[in-house]
Amino acid sequence: MGSEMFDLEAYLAHNNERIASALLGFLQPAGKSDRLADAMRYSLMAGGKRLRPNLCMAAAEAVGGEARRVIPLACALEMIHTYSLIHDDLPAMDDDDLRRGQPTCHVAFDEATAILAGDALLTLAFQVVAAMDEGRPERRLEAIGLIAAAAGYRGMVLGQMLDIQSEGRHLQRDEVEFLHARKTGDMIQAALVSGALIAGGAKDQIEKLTAYGRAVGLAFQVVDDILNVEGDPSVMGKAAGTDRLRRKNSYPELMGLEPSKKFAQTLTAEAVRALAGFDAKADPLRALAGYVVARNK
Ligand code: IPE
Ligand code: IPE
Ligand code: MG
Ligand code: MG
Repeated sequence: MGSEMFDLEAYLAHNNERIASALLGFLQPAGKSDRLADAMRYSLMAGGKRLRPNLCMAAAEAVGGEARRVIPLACALEMIHTYSLIHDDLPAMDDDDLRRGQPTCHVAFDEATAILAGDALLTLAFQVVAAMDEGRPERRLEAIGLIAAAAGYRGMVLGQMLDIQSEGRHLQRDEVEFLHARKTGDMIQAALVSGALIAGGAKDQIEKLTAYGRAVGLAFQVVDDILNVEGDPSVMGKAAGTDRLRRKNSYPELMGLEPSKKFAQTLTAEAVRALAGFDAKADPLRALAGYVVARNK
């Protein structure tokens, strides 16, 4: 079966339902008044695309595993991602007031609550993965290590630091690529590799998924930049035009809009090529690569 026959919409709908109910299960309120859990739930359940959990589940399937077995891991990745968005939107960072189609966490609650909700989501993620009983323990340990590295000071947090530090300063192409790879690519790659690791993927499969993740991860941020220029805020659920306003380094700024679109296409083709040798069980990943560039939100 070719990936063009694959019904990605149905695949995502099915997975997203499972992800949503598992996420809610991890966030049981302690009592009647639980502002912290309310804020965590508010951002987590606001209707993100759930790309990282889907990539994680699709990678598990690609190596012959079962998606449902990595659902807690997929949820953990979404918690880390949601934490990063809550903090990214804070006044000290991008200062945005719309996210996932609703007021940002610090607007709906307050800054202190938003900071703490982010902290709590990040730590809960590791608690959830540590408590999993899927996969060999050494594989789980390796997954925890690589997710921590991707999220941390040599990964996403570094990307965020560079993004802020380079506002108003023109970066070279290799510097923008480095920034984007850290800010967004590393966590996307970690979602794929951790899913495959826990599902028992072989070394050569993990290598291919690493290459796929590098390409898809960068393509994803390039498209995020493009949507920031020409996307529809009411569809995206977040503001547009802000990169230019804040003098961010983005691909459209660096190379222009059309070349950025071409570049995203090239990266997607590269991602699909990296999956050569995988059978039809990798069709969700093939379809997801196309989705990353075709999306309008
Ligand atoms: C937005 O991520 C921030 C980036 C890393 C580009 P998504 O576009 O995946 O956001 P949600 O999860 O769908 O809200
Ligand atoms: C967000 O990057 C990336 C992380 C939160 C790690 P951006 O600031 O470019 O993403 P949006 O456009 O606010 O979603
Ligand atoms: Mg930002
Ligand atoms: Mg932002």
